[in-house]
Parts: sequence; structure tokens; C-alpha cells
Amino acid sequence: MPDLKQHTIDYMTQNPSILAKSLVVKRDHTLILDGLSFAIRPGSINGLIGPSGSGKTTLMRAIVGVQSISDGSLNVLGKSAGDKTLRYKIGYVSQDMAVYTDLTVVQNLRYFATVARATRQQVDDIIATVRLDKQRNQIIGSLSGGQKARVSLAAALIGNPELLVLDEPTVGLDPVLRQELWDLFGELASQGKTLLVSSHVMDEADKCDELLLLRDGQLLWNDSRQRLLSRTNTRSVQDAFMRVITSKEAI
Ligand SMILES: Nc1ncnc2c1ncn2[C@@H]1O[C@H](COP(=O)(O)OP(=O)(O)OP(=O)(O)O)[C@@H](O)[C@H]1O
Ligand SMILES: [Mg+2]
Repeated sequence: MPDLKQHTIDYMTQNPSILAKSLVVKRDHTLILDGLSFAIRPGSINGLIGPSGSGKTTLMRAIVGVQSISDGSLNVLGKSAGDKTLRYKIGYVSQDMAVYTDLTVVQNLRYFATVARATRQQVDDIIATVRLDKQRNQIIGSLSGGQKARVSLAAALIGNPELLVLDEPTVGLDPVLRQELWDLFGELASQGKTLLVSSHVMDEADKCDELLLLRDGQLLWNDSRQRLLSRTNTRSVQDAFMRVITSKEAI
């Protein structure tokens, strides 16, 4: 493991987008997140990678402020997670589709825009960003899987949030559509947005600058992908992950 304490301190001086210190989350008295410490740098793409049930959604819910924390601290954009001033600074795509399937693309997005006090022009710009111009008047229920995924992302982009928290946004998509979405994430990061993207598909981890590897509620790694590969002497995150969990020594 890298020296998380030093790593966290380094980031603290650079205004991290997210800073967790010994974060503990329990649900129904069960320990789900077991003392996580990590920092996330602005303008980076961070993969939150871990097997099903490892705690990815729970961590994202804590970051967006809908899951209370049991111990430790969690700072998001300089405030405590859940602070009401963060409401429109974070775009969240939950694992379940949170758009109205009987409305059209533009009707959905205008609805969210009204709630977030965004303009119609912003809605049109976002439709162009996610490349859904041709589908703008189509009912969500009739869109393809990849188009639906882009509507959810578009909804999260309304209000121009600094931080995007995307819970398994590419699940069920074919490799070409997944690549298209990842290209879009790259564009958003190059505009200065910070992205936290969860996945249990290891090849998606290979598209991230920074990785959080989670297993059974514990962080196995929080540092760059490149350093993970060189430290474990592997060429893919899949191999690195296996090496980390089978290695008896700390890496
Ligand atoms: N309300 C709850 N009460 C008790 N345990 C819960 C509750 N909600 C979730 N859990 C447990 O917390 C653990 C982490 O769940 P979480 O949804 O965060 O995992 P995940 O990594 O997102 O998994 P997946 O990849 O399947 O989405 C699981 O073991 C889950 O059963
Ligand atoms: Mg989940």
C-alpha cells in the first residue's frame, strides 16, 4: 500500500475534491465501509473498482450525502458530505435509472433543469454534449441501452456540477458503447470536472488515471493506475487486483 497518510496530506494541500479520513459506514448495525482514508484530485477520472457487495454504492451514497456516516470524516468540495450547499455541485447517476421512462429526452432534462434552476439553453448544450440531438423528442422507454445511459449522464450534468459520481454507468453496454461513454468521461475531465466512476469490470479500470480498489469494505489501493501496475509488476488492473488480494505482503 502507498503511505496513505502522506498521500492524503499531499492532497490536502491541493484542495482535494473528496477527502475521507478513517471513514466508517454501518447499515443496520452491519459494518459496510471499514475505515477508508483517501483523497481525490480535481479534474481526474477515478475508478471505484471492486466486486459486487464490496461497498461501492454505499461509498457513493455517502459522498452524495444520502447515506449517513458512522465514524471518521468525509469532505466533499471543502464541505462535510451532505451539506446542502453541495446539492447542485454534485451530479449523481445512481445504479437504478432515475429518469422518467414515459417522458421524452428533452422533457426529462427540462424537468431536472427546472428543479436545478438551469436554463433551456443549458439543456440543449447538454443534449449536444451527450450526442442525443436526434433522440431529443423520443420517449426514454424506447431508447437503446446506450442512449438511456447517456440520458442519465445528461441529467447528472444539469447545473454544471464540479463533481460527477457515476454508479456503474456502463453496465449492460457493449464494448463500443462503453468506449463511447469513456471518451465522454475523458472530455468532461478535460473541462476540469472530477469524476468518480464505479465498475466491477476490471478492463474499465484500465481507462482511469486514479484507482480506488475496494474489497469487503476496505481499500486495497488509492493511487494512480500506473503506480499500481509498476508496484505489482503487472500489465492490467485485473492482474494487479489478483496480485494484491493473493499477496501476503503489503504492496
Ligand atoms: N440497508 C442495508 N442493510 C444492511 N446491509 C446492506 C444494506 N444495504 C446494503 N447492504 C450491504 O452492504 C454491502 C455493500 O453493498 P453495496 O451496494 O455498497 O455494494 P456494491 O459494491 O455497490 O455492489 P454491486 O457491485 O453489486 O452494486 C453488501 O454486502 C450489501 O448487502
Ligand atoms: Mg453497487
